[in-house]
Amino acid sequence: MPNVESESVYFLNAGAAESEHERLNRQHRLFDDMMQNDLLPPHISSALSNSPTPPKIVEIATGTAIWLTEIAKTLPADAELVGLDYDTSKFPASLPSNITLRQANMYEPFPSDLHGKFDIVNVRLIIFALKEGQGTDLVRNLMTLLKPGGYIVWAETGPLVGSVEPPSLAWHQFQEVNWKFAKKVGRDLNLPIGMLYYIKEAGCVECDDKAYPGNSQLYTHNAKDWIARINFHVKAFAEQSLRGIISLGGVEGMTTQEEMDELVAAFKRDFVDRKVNYVFIRAWGRKPEA
Ligand SMILES: C[S@@+](CC[C@H](N)C(=O)[O-])C[C@H]1O[C@@H](n2cnc3c(N)ncnc32)[C@H](O)[C@@H]1O
Repeated sequence: MPNVESESVYFLNAGAAESEHERLNRQHRLFDDMMQNDLLPPHISSALSNSPTPPKIVEIATGTAIWLTEIAKTLPADAELVGLDYDTSKFPASLPSNITLRQANMYEPFPSDLHGKFDIVNVRLIIFALKEGQGTDLVRNLMTLLKPGGYIVWAETGPLVGSVEPPSLAWHQFQEVNWKFAKKVGRDLNLPIGMLYYIKEAGCVECDDKAYPGNSQLYTHNAKDWIARINFHVKAFAEQSLRGIISLGGVEGMTTQEEMDELVAAFKRDFVDRKVNYVFIRAWGRKPEA
């Protein structure tokens, strides 16, 4: 069995699991607001509610299972929900009885009892775990979990498709560190745009995607609260990313705790009430019936 941890380029699991757990749950609420509180593309939700059998959903790289916990509230009690992640340290202590969590590496064949079982495979925010050349094979692996006609839904954003206003030197420095690290470890830089291509290439049909402007909340009555939340989020995300990048050997200019502390301090100064402009993309496709 390969040593998954040592092969992985994923960097957001460094440090205390509890604070990463809280960060992911806060992040879910931001992304959910930004995506108009549609936990699934509306036409896929409708297909699920019109299905004659109880819904079966699996989430890959489930983290704290926050998405599963939220979607469970919208589904009948006989829905069956499964969450998989290679790192179990962020799994919550208690969950609704129809959610089961298990350890699984998404780059290896999934346990055979899960094959061909699900109406939906959901995956969100694995951008930092994907190496160049792995996208299409990953989707093929996810498709093994689907019933014929089932849907894959994949959502991503990333720092390289974001900008801040007014411009921030700390943000630019962070983007450079992140980009250098991606090049060093061979991370896939085609996400979030490339998901649709990978889903099509893997053989799905009825594929499409939708982009959600990450700053749409600025044009609602929530704008002030949104700015405070997104500034808090950016600081926490940058700190957790830098901690992880250093733990995996770092890149030129970002290898020591001192270098990290300096950039984190610059983030604290810069991110109080900045506008953060970015985009969140959700792509989907359907496993052919035949
Ligand atoms: C940014 S978190 C997102 C968690 C969750 N999907 C969400 O949106 O809240 C990414 C998750 O991917 C998991 N992960 C990374 N590499 C993985 C792999 N090879 N197999 C399974 N899970 C993986 C991490 O442990 C982490 O929980």
